Amino acid sequence: MMKATAQAPVNIALIKYWGKKDEKLRLPANDSLSFNVSAAFSVTSVEYDASLIEDVVMIDGQVLQGDSKLRLTKHVDRIREIAQLKTRARVESHNNFPKGSGIASSASGFAALTLAAAVAADLKLTEKDLSILARIGSGSACRSIPDGWVRWHQGNSSETSYAESLYPADYWQICDLVAVVGSAEKKISSSEGHGLVESSPFYQPRLKDLPAKTQQIITAIDTKDFTLMGQILEAEAINMHAVMMTSVPPLLYWNPTTLRVMHEIISWREAGLEVYFTIDAGPNVHVICQGNDAAKIEKKLLEITGVEKVIVNQVANGAHIL
Ligand code: DP6
Repeated sequence: MMKATAQAPVNIALIKYWGKKDEKLRLPANDSLSFNVSAAFSVTSVEYDASLIEDVVMIDGQVLQGDSKLRLTKHVDRIREIAQLKTRARVESHNNFPKGSGIASSASGFAALTLAAAVAADLKLTEKDLSILARIGSGSACRSIPDGWVRWHQGNSSETSYAESLYPADYWQICDLVAVVGSAEKKISSSEGHGLVESSPFYQPRLKDLPAKTQQIITAIDTKDFTLMGQILEAEAINMHAVMMTSVPPLLYWNPTTLRVMHEIISWREAGLEVYFTIDAGPNVHVICQGNDAAKIEKKLLEITGVEKVIVNQVANGAHIL
């Protein structure tokens, strides 16, 4: 039977991917670094079925049409081409986090789709091949293929731009508590946002500083220096948002609750509780802390006005077949 089901996690970037040097191949302008999270993932099954006259794609029970369908079927085409397969597919995907919760599904979704479509086609691909393919679907998806702590090498061609694991999931007990603070659909998608970077006067200075920052955070992870890692990842998130806010048109992803959470975290830190934040292309705040402090911080986050819920994540493995 030509069917496979894969699960892939969302990942949170500590050094961000924002800006591409090749839009079509999704080659990023810089290396990025992330870990996979345990409590937010996609489960995707792909079945090649000779009785179908066109691909059928369903996400969370909804049949896709138009452009959103096309982005996914084009991705299946890439895999069919390698397998020299013409058969149409039935794709069914579920996210365990609600649509519109501000948690992006493209990383977990494209990673799970890549693995399921390849295995269903009986392709024996390496982790590197899978990461490259996932990247072409959505850049950050390449980081949801390998396990644990992951580095995406920007590369200078499709073959050299892929992610690999730096450390396994159980290397270090770090948590990402996602404070969900808003669910409005984005007006400008992250794919479009990437295209605006050159219009920000802060983009080139950002790129110049990134290699040193990336090296520094790897040293922090290497030595399990939580303070150093936290300082770098928080400054990095603010740096990326400075580029977003100063692009033309400006991208302002924060809402009042986002800022409230940021200020609370800074004040907890001043009071001796070690905790840092990072934020992607949305209003939710990813609160990074050590495992021992997670329960206490979760409780404090839930007391902040406007925090709808908190998703508690450990570091997790990458994409795998179910
Ligand atoms: C802010 O991977 O969603 O989350 O390649 O166009 O699909 P496309 O973009 P995407 O961008 C993610 C941007 C980010 C930062 C990050 O995850 O590194």
